[in-house]
Amino acid sequence: MSAESRIDDLLGRMTLRQKVGQMTQPERLHITPDEVRDHHIGSILSGGGSTPGENRPADWVAMNDAYWAASMEEGDGLLPIPILYGVDAIHGNNNVLGATVFPHNIGLGCANDPDLMARIAQVTANEILATGVEWTFAPTLAVARDDRWGRTYESYSEDPERVGVLGEAFVRGLQGDLGDGAVAACLKHWVGDGGTTGGVDQGETTCSEEELRRLHVAPYLPALRAGALSVMASYNSWNGEKCHGHRWLLTDLLKDELGFEGLVVSDWNGIDQLSDDYGEAIVQSVNAGVDLFMVPDQWRDFIEGTISAVEAGRIPMERIDDAVRRTLRVKERYGLFDRPRPADRPHSDTALFGSAEHRAVAREAVRKSMVCLKNEGGHLPVSKESRILVAGRNSNNRGHQCGGFTVAWQGTFGNDHIHGGTSIWEGIHAKAPKAVLSWDASILDGEHDGFDVAIVVIGEGPYAEGLGDVRSGGPVAAGSGGGLVASGPVQTSQGGTPYAATLEHRRNHPEDLAVLEKIRAAGIPVVTVLVSGRPLVVEHEIDASDAFVAAWLPGSEGAGVPDVLLGDHDFQGTLAFSWPRTDTDRFNRGDDDYDPRFPYGFGLDSEGRRV
Ligand code: BGC
Repeated sequence: MSAESRIDDLLGRMTLRQKVGQMTQPERLHITPDEVRDHHIGSILSGGGSTPGENRPADWVAMNDAYWAASMEEGDGLLPIPILYGVDAIHGNNNVLGATVFPHNIGLGCANDPDLMARIAQVTANEILATGVEWTFAPTLAVARDDRWGRTYESYSEDPERVGVLGEAFVRGLQGDLGDGAVAACLKHWVGDGGTTGGVDQGETTCSEEELRRLHVAPYLPALRAGALSVMASYNSWNGEKCHGHRWLLTDLLKDELGFEGLVVSDWNGIDQLSDDYGEAIVQSVNAGVDLFMVPDQWRDFIEGTISAVEAGRIPMERIDDAVRRTLRVKERYGLFDRPRPADRPHSDTALFGSAEHRAVAREAVRKSMVCLKNEGGHLPVSKESRILVAGRNSNNRGHQCGGFTVAWQGTFGNDHIHGGTSIWEGIHAKAPKAVLSWDASILDGEHDGFDVAIVVIGEGPYAEGLGDVRSGGPVAAGSGGGLVASGPVQTSQGGTPYAATLEHRRNHPEDLAVLEKIRAAGIPVVTVLVSGRPLVVEHEIDASDAFVAAWLPGSEGAGVPDVLLGDHDFQGTLAFSWPRTDTDRFNRGDDDYDPRFPYGFGLDSEGRRV
């Protein structure tokens, strides 16, 4: 039977209740396998930090196996249709303990290497399959235009072309030929998420259709051509109208004009923002073109509300059929109907999960993503034989170097929650045994043998979504981790306020500049490494440094940083974002009067020449 005729056959045998169940995606904490069977649920997700058991691949496989078995039960009133499980594996399979955690997208944008992107996607797919999961909400194709946005690090670049090239490579790596090693991709967030006024997460993107197409739609075109199976609607509005209820964006443009045949999934409770009346929100979003609904805990209300709206004639049956057809088509194209139960799939619980082979790819990505912004006085590369003082809050902190969306939604602190990999300090020490760690440089207050050079790792702490915004006050809309308690003793920075009121680093983290100045005052040359999710205003920190390197959020393989600093590899990264000089700079490549601190494409090698 051909794929479409299998879908026709299924659709012909489904009741309205079964169809609406296929359109429903609850969160795992809010649904049991029995409920999956009884309500004919089509898909489940894990929100950030929502993990089963001990959060090992085997726990995930067991969980998915139970959901799958429930979805495949046969009997009176039951139609076996395999469940589709989605996760935010946005820099490796980052929710799971012991996963290989890649640099966040901002670093990969600076590495700008499509072949590397494809390999990262293949490793990520393998580590997702290890958990019995088949779908990731990635890649993010946001074109972040205002660095104050808390999701800037999820964006490859401020330049739509670079986002398009890297996103396509990632989709091809992830989905491949849709064989055994494939994971379904989800392009997000459709559309204009990176263009909101003030960089406010879930905010308002105001621009002409021409600009929307040029900046925000353009990067989707290659990824759609590569066959991405799904697209996520965005929380933001475009010219005053929320994307989740925007028929022109979801149906006329994406499905009709661009010919997208896969499914559109809503974002976490994304339809709630359409109306205070949930029934009205359902009608608007279904009719606009959302096919699968991420309704983490309100899924019963969604099912009943949708059935009532169809019965009342507010949603045409053809729209329901189209929505279900698209979800079934994704399952069909992905081969889900023909795959065995998760426990019996070839890559389930594979020994490759978190393996040295996988980590080598991540370490290569770290090396290639680093951008050298200043290199004076010939201190790079640092000699492995020299007496190196390693300092700075982020020098021995795997949690900070991984950033948000790692084990917990908002990320973690310290080394304990990131199993495997190395902090930057651990990587330095392995190559330079004489190096000494004193994160606050207090060693300089007492007796010491003197240091030839210091490597000081400064930067931001972890954050995700609106909690990473830079703005003064204002409520932060909840995202996928909102209301979830991370399993296990994982500290998160969940709170209700934006990360900071300014991009000026010394005002947010004065302790960083204090350490740099202290070391400077002791006459020790300083090589500074900035760990951050975006370009920051760091004029004073640059002045206090002989060399200054942006390492972004490198992930679990901190050893990639000393691979370059200590000279085993040279710098290759170039800026995928224009770097600001002041808190009010908002430069993007191609702007009139373009005058950033460091331009798009800037980057030095260890001899101080442009890469
Ligand atoms: C985010 C999405 C994510 C979803 C599921 C939302 O808060 O905006 O990017 O895929 O949660 O975790």
